[in-house]
Amino acid sequence: SKNTIIAPSVLAADFANLQRDIEMINNSQADWFHIDIMDGVFVPNISFGMPVLEAITRHTKKTVDVHLMIVNPDQYIKTFKDLGADILTVHYEACTHLHRTLQAIKAQGMKAGVALNPHTSIDLLEDVINDIDMVCIMSVNPGFGGQSFIENTYAKVKKLKDLITRKGASTLIEIDGGVTNKNAVQLAEAGADVLVAGSFVFGAKDPIQTVADLKDLLAV
Ligand code: DX5
Ligand code: ZN
Repeated sequence: SKNTIIAPSVLAADFANLQRDIEMINNSQADWFHIDIMDGVFVPNISFGMPVLEAITRHTKKTVDVHLMIVNPDQYIKTFKDLGADILTVHYEACTHLHRTLQAIKAQGMKAGVALNPHTSIDLLEDVINDIDMVCIMSVNPGFGGQSFIENTYAKVKKLKDLITRKGASTLIEIDGGVTNKNAVQLAEAGADVLVAGSFVFGAKDPIQTVADLKDLLAV
């Protein structure tokens, strides 16, 4: 049985009670903690920057999964390593020299991820898939939490799974945006390994139970 990774997104936490919310995730069955960095240029929103990330990584006991929604990520790769990132994901659309960026992330001892906007085709990864530790398929347009899931995502997951199998790669498939208990099983069945969930977890009355229920649902 496959163990689908659950990664709550801190974007939906209460930033006035960040330590409380991080400890809540620490006490849950969540596997990873997903952290969205937005620069107001690549996406039409600004989330938070380095001092807040430092505070988060100081408290979390989970694997730190950093999703960069920023232009020119190369200049900050070492900074994110120093701030405690375990996995660093850059956007395909923000990287002119993606292969070089991936090597630079791995040279710092982090896992290298590539995120694809909803309009970006899986086909574009054909020549680089063996260099990618994780592909993050955006199932909403990046920039905001709480948006609704784009149904075309299932087809993209299947296509990516086929590419990974065909190339003999060990790349993980992460889904980010609009994940709930209504689509989690179908996503895992299509080939997803990691499910990010922001508002579904933090918006719930009992986030710890919500993560436990998601894990139960996926434990088949
Ligand atoms: C969107 C972010 C997501 C977001 C997910 O730009 O990359 O990680 O926090 O939030 P929900 O689960 O609410 O769609
Ligand atoms: Zn994200």
